[in-house]
Amino acid sequence: MCGIIGINSYKPVSVSIINSLKKLEYRGYDSAGIATLSSGLINEVKSEGRVDKLEKNSLVQGMEGTIGIGHVRWATHGLPNSVNAHPHSSQNVSVVHNGIIENSTLLKKLLVSKGHKFKSQTDTEVIVHLITEHLKTYDIVSSIQKTLKSLHGSFALGIIFKDQPDLIVGARRGSPLAVGYGPNENYLGSDSYALKSMTNKITYLDDGEFCIIKKDYVEFFNEEGIKINKKVLELSSDEEKYDKGDYKHFMAKEIEEQPITLKNGIKEYIDNSNNDVNIYNFPWKVNEISSISLIGCGTAYHSCLMAKYWFEQLTSLDVNVDIASEFRYRKNRFKKETLYIFVSQSGETADTYAALDLCKKNGMKTCAVVNVIESSIARDSEFVLPIHCGTEIGVASTKAFLNQILILYILCLKLGLLRKDIKKDVFTQKLKDLNNLPKLAEQTLLIDNKIQTVSNTFNKAKGSMFLGRGFSYPIALEGALKLKELSYIHAEGYPAGEMKHGPLALIEEGMPVVVLAPRDSYYKKTISNMQEVIARGAKVLLITNKSKDEVVSENIWETLEVESTNEDLLPFLLTIPLQKLAYYSALKKGFDIDKPRNLAKSVTVE
Ligand code: M6R
Repeated sequence: MCGIIGINSYKPVSVSIINSLKKLEYRGYDSAGIATLSSGLINEVKSEGRVDKLEKNSLVQGMEGTIGIGHVRWATHGLPNSVNAHPHSSQNVSVVHNGIIENSTLLKKLLVSKGHKFKSQTDTEVIVHLITEHLKTYDIVSSIQKTLKSLHGSFALGIIFKDQPDLIVGARRGSPLAVGYGPNENYLGSDSYALKSMTNKITYLDDGEFCIIKKDYVEFFNEEGIKINKKVLELSSDEEKYDKGDYKHFMAKEIEEQPITLKNGIKEYIDNSNNDVNIYNFPWKVNEISSISLIGCGTAYHSCLMAKYWFEQLTSLDVNVDIASEFRYRKNRFKKETLYIFVSQSGETADTYAALDLCKKNGMKTCAVVNVIESSIARDSEFVLPIHCGTEIGVASTKAFLNQILILYILCLKLGLLRKDIKKDVFTQKLKDLNNLPKLAEQTLLIDNKIQTVSNTFNKAKGSMFLGRGFSYPIALEGALKLKELSYIHAEGYPAGEMKHGPLALIEEGMPVVVLAPRDSYYKKTISNMQEVIARGAKVLLITNKSKDEVVSENIWETLEVESTNEDLLPFLLTIPLQKLAYYSALKKGFDIDKPRNLAKSVTVE
């Protein structure tokens, strides 16, 4: 992960670098650092922890220099401390890096044998010394080209040189990198978001390319060190406002925003006047697709799994679901008639991108379901379905999950209709129900006090389980992921029917277990599974939907009732109390909700 920034200007750059680093903190927040060139010297300031801490460092406050680089780190090699924080510098060169150098151990040995001294435990430091070594013989372009050639793994780099007061080098392989153009200054950044307050004119580097950023112009090179021309894209110049409003955390705000974000997604895709779904410029004929392969990581993978249940239930398409990090290394049997769908909020997740790249290299049909439409996954997919939920800041994905499954459900309805798997009247009714979903989400959000109370029990427990069947199973997985990610409480999501094949052994007196049992086709089966865990002493929090029929069961610890709708849409509503449960547990434990430990919002390393 990690975020990088570089600015080459006629004005001092440290304040702008710090401001950009604050925007990049969603990529990593273990440590942060900055290096500028002034009076012919590289000045480096680094600190463990957040950018705020770096900013308060007196050395940063007085920092001079009109050219500089900055970094926020998500540790891969070496502890998250100030020594391992980037930039890493020799006397001549300073480097910031996002990615992993897989052959760093070998390279380090070689460099040490040549007399280079290493200060940190990072893989990045070998880049510094390789460049320093090559500069003894070659010019900048050749030194960079030779260094990049010897690196295995992934990187986005920002590099400054002691003897080059008007030059930042940027280089990319695997990890994203953008160049920005401003008046009398130019920039380098991990993404356009970090640069947006300074410019909306952007060029994205492609794999293998590097660039030289001067104050007044930028030159691009391919892997061979040959100059190339690149397009300048003009992005929308509206800068979204990202404030928490009256909320304590972005996550709380993002949970509460869900009725609106669902409404936005519906508005973008549903044509109510014609009772239809608008998916413009879909590049394939419907008879060219006989199966769907859905690929993602974490919460996005849960969205894929959710979609599998819908596609199988409502269409005759074959559906496969994969975790991207598994898919990319498996022996895949690529099929021309399969549509490969990549689900990613950030659009930058390294494993998901690699899976997309693999599919492209095999000539497959590729479609991205993303939130960030300027992202690498969106840019490199043949077709993009944006999820329209607005920027998501909290590391735990909430509104993006609901909008991912919304867009996948809408796609499922459209393909089902076109393939004649879904009759027009059924389709029309499902659209009608969908239009009502934001309202139901709003009402479901009102369940609050009880969730706050039950979260106390989860907080005290050794562990917990989340059970569901059918449509509720992916939601059980998502609920468990949210709880572990935010409250650091062990939580397992399981298909309720699987408990007796092993996990039932974990149930002991007082263990909190969430059972998702909406009144759908699986209801009775799930209630039976619930009895089995109650009989073994579990404290069951039953989450169902409102109904005139009472739940016939004894010894349920607590029950929450979401609103009622058709069974396809119940997963949306079941998700909401689970998000809140995770939120309140973390809140009571006093954890950093928007930036949970060890995680980052955009996972750009594999
Ligand atoms: O940006 P992406 O949707 O590709 O990210 C995938 C996962 O890293 C992400 O969903 C992660 O699991 C969330 N933090 C979970 O809340």
